[in-house]
Amino acid sequence: MTEKKPYIETIIEISRSYLEESFPDKERLDEFLQKVDFLKTDTNIKEIIIKFTEIYIDFIKKDYQSQYINTNKSLIDFLEKNDDGVKIIWGNCLDAMRGMNSESIHLMVTSPPYYNAREYSQWKNLNDYLDDMRKIIREAYRVLDNHRVFVFNVGDIFDNDNITTKSTWGKRRIPLGAYFTKIFEEEGFTYVDDIIWDKGEVQSERHKNGNKPYPFYQYPMNCYEHLLIFHKHRNDKNRYPCPVCGCLKVNGNAYSEMGLKSWECKNLECFERSKANRGKRFSLKTITTQGRQEEKFAIEKEFIKKWRRDIIKINPVIKINSKGENTLGHTAPFPSEIPEFAIKMFSYPDEYVLDPFGGSFTSVLVAKQLGRIGVGIELNKEMFGKSSMQNLIKNLQPQLFNDKIIQISELDLL
Ligand SMILES: C[S@@+](CC[C@H](N)C(=O)[O-])C[C@H]1O[C@@H](n2cnc3c(N)ncnc32)[C@H](O)[C@@H]1O
Repeated sequence: MTEKKPYIETIIEISRSYLEESFPDKERLDEFLQKVDFLKTDTNIKEIIIKFTEIYIDFIKKDYQSQYINTNKSLIDFLEKNDDGVKIIWGNCLDAMRGMNSESIHLMVTSPPYYNAREYSQWKNLNDYLDDMRKIIREAYRVLDNHRVFVFNVGDIFDNDNITTKSTWGKRRIPLGAYFTKIFEEEGFTYVDDIIWDKGEVQSERHKNGNKPYPFYQYPMNCYEHLLIFHKHRNDKNRYPCPVCGCLKVNGNAYSEMGLKSWECKNLECFERSKANRGKRFSLKTITTQGRQEEKFAIEKEFIKKWRRDIIKINPVIKINSKGENTLGHTAPFPSEIPEFAIKMFSYPDEYVLDPFGGSFTSVLVAKQLGRIGVGIELNKEMFGKSSMQNLIKNLQPQLFNDKIIQISELDLL
């Protein structure tokens, strides 16, 4: 009786010429082949396909990452260091992200400064502010992994844009949500949704009507903010293995989704063919978003139900106590429900979650609580440094971790 050939050998045989295309450097190809060699002893075909695909994607990603050379070694060491998974970077998020590897973050969730709404961050005019934000969004696009999500909380404000008139009369409603949507799209992101966060409380003074019950004097009170959701779909021309048989014998599919390269399996021995005898159609997006639909990753039914409609009521964080003191050491924290939504809906355990405008680091702590690696960048160390870290530990940690003390790792880029 002849011994059955290990399935990994079948994959490599069928994929050989395509592997040579993906790794034109022979040394790199050999390195890859060596890396998957251990699969020869594996007999579970499903497992072999998953592991082979993971290693292949990892190799392709490393080659892609090596094209970007401005990384900051100490920053990357800090991010990769195995610690408690609560990582705080003091610095400007633009500079910090410029030091990160491309496509190394699995989810971003944040709330930026709302133009000149807070005394601690101010811009000369609205255009300067939007230009700065555009640079940050551009860098975020590079750093966010492909086919991943950015959840961006922002409120429309009532202020002077300081472009044409600087007097109080120049104050107007400024639709930051709309401006950001346009910038995100121009920087390559795909707009997915605008969930309205109903705060239930009045956010601006715009409704003041001087007690005049006449036309043109009545404006509704503003009581919402946006939770904008964007996807990144970088058109990656690399070939990826068929999720059914693991082979790279795939052809470009004529009916690709916009901005995506999708594939059709051409391996006639593949385990799944359509009635019309067509091979499996897939893309890196489907591998990324559908590859782990297992019970252990399922989101609780109640949570899905809570977020089923795109208007959601969440009480804002109460930060002023009865004595008029700011209890959180920060003037604009967002409720933990926002990062909780982003993290549960758009990431898996052990993945990297980045909040580039860390503030009081709510996102980082919620990420940790949900078993992810939370990374927060914050410019204002004076305001959020040690004393507010103490506040954070006192106020948020006991609530999130049942009094377990979490180790916070810090890196100072200031
Ligand atoms: C609206 S607050 C974020 C609130 C945060 N979501 C929370 O729950 O605390 C915006 C934060 O971004 C910080 N910031 C502004 N510009 C920054 C930059 N270029 N890099 C890093 N942080 C910045 C501000 O100091 C402020 O803490």
